[in-house]
Amino acid sequence: MYKIAVMPGDGTGPEVTAEAVKVLKAAADKFGFKVELTEFDFGGERYKRTGETLPDSAIDELRKFQAILLGAIGHPDVAPGILEKGILLKARFALDQYINLRPVKLFPGVETPLKDKGPEHIDFTVVRENSGDLYTGTGGITMKGTPHEVAVQSAVYTRFQVDRCLRYAFYYTRKYGKKARGKGSKNTLALCGKTNVLTYVYDLWERAFHEMGQKEFPDIEREYYHVDATCMWFVKNPEWFDVIVTGNMFGDIITDLGAMIQGGMGIAAGGNLNPEGVSMFEPIGGSAPKYTGMGVINPLAAICSAQMMLETLGEQKAADKIDAAVRYITANKLKSLAAGRMGYSTSQVGDLVAEKVAE
Ligand code: IPM
Ligand code: MN
Repeated sequence: MYKIAVMPGDGTGPEVTAEAVKVLKAAADKFGFKVELTEFDFGGERYKRTGETLPDSAIDELRKFQAILLGAIGHPDVAPGILEKGILLKARFALDQYINLRPVKLFPGVETPLKDKGPEHIDFTVVRENSGDLYTGTGGITMKGTPHEVAVQSAVYTRFQVDRCLRYAFYYTRKYGKKARGKGSKNTLALCGKTNVLTYVYDLWERAFHEMGQKEFPDIEREYYHVDATCMWFVKNPEWFDVIVTGNMFGDIITDLGAMIQGGMGIAAGGNLNPEGVSMFEPIGGSAPKYTGMGVINPLAAICSAQMMLETLGEQKAADKIDAAVRYITANKLKSLAAGRMGYSTSQVGDLVAEKVAE
C-alpha cells in the first residue's frame, strides 16, 4: 500500500493528472499493490482565494506520504515567480529533493525535429542537481532604481551537494546506463559544465567527479562536455549520450532542449527525488492555460511521471508495463503528440494506456 499525495495544480494540470491516476490504478490492480491517494489543491486558484502558496504546515503534511504526484503549477492571473517559487521550488527545497531526474527518450512513432534520428539515437537521461546553484537565491539588489543599481545572483555549490548528486548519478548509470540496459558496450556518465569560465563552481564539480569516479566507480566511463557544446551535440549527435550529470541551472536549460528532441512537452516527464525522503513527480511542461478544460492536451508526460514514481517506489514490473504501454500507444495509435492533434481526447489517451496496462 502506497500513500500518494496528488497535487493536480493549475490549468490543464488536473486533466493530465486524472489520466496519470487512471493508469496508476490500472497498474495497481494488475500488479497487486494498493495506492491511497490524497488530493491537495495548492496552486493559482487557491493562492488567489487565500494568498497561500505552499505553507510550512503543508510541507509537514507532505512528509507523511511516500511520493507526490504533481500536475502543473502556473496561473495566468498570478505574477511570474510567485507560484513557481512558492510551490514548486518550495517543495523541492523543503523536502530536499536534491535530484531532478529527466529522461530524454524518443518513443517509437514520435516525431523529432532532428533529421535522420530515431529512438535508437535519442535515449539518454539527465541527472540535474536540484538544490543549489543560482536557484538558492543568494544575492540581492542594491541602489535599486538608480542608474548605479547593482544586481548579484550567485551560483552556490557545496562539496556535500556536489558529492551527493554525483554519487546518485554514478549509481544510476551503473543500474540504467546503456550497457546495463543491453543498449551498448559501456555505461557512461558525462559531466556537463563550463570549466573554462565558471572556474570555481565547475572546478569543484570536475574534481569531485573524477575523484569519485576513480575511487568508487572505475567500471563507469567518464566524459566531460561544456554546456554550450552539450546543446550542440544534443542536436547533432544525441546518440553520444548515456547519462549526463549537471548543475541546477544548466540542467534546467538543457532539459528543455532534451524535451523538444524527444517530441515535446507532451511526453517529457521528470522526478524531483530525495532518495532518502519524499520524492515528487511532474510533467516538465507547464499548465498550458489556454487549453484548460478542452480535453485536447496530451497526458503522456503525466502518465510517464507516474511511471517514474512506480519505478522509484520499487514497482519495477508495473513501471515496465506502463513504459511498454506508452510505447505501444505512440507507435500504433497517436497521430501526433501535439495538443488537439493526437486523434484522441486527453481521457481517451488515458484509457488506451490503462487498457494496455491491464492486458
Ligand atoms: C522546471 C521549471 C522550473 C525550474 C521553474 C518553473 C521554476 O522550469 O521545472 O524546469 O526552473 O526548475
Ligand atoms: Mn525548466
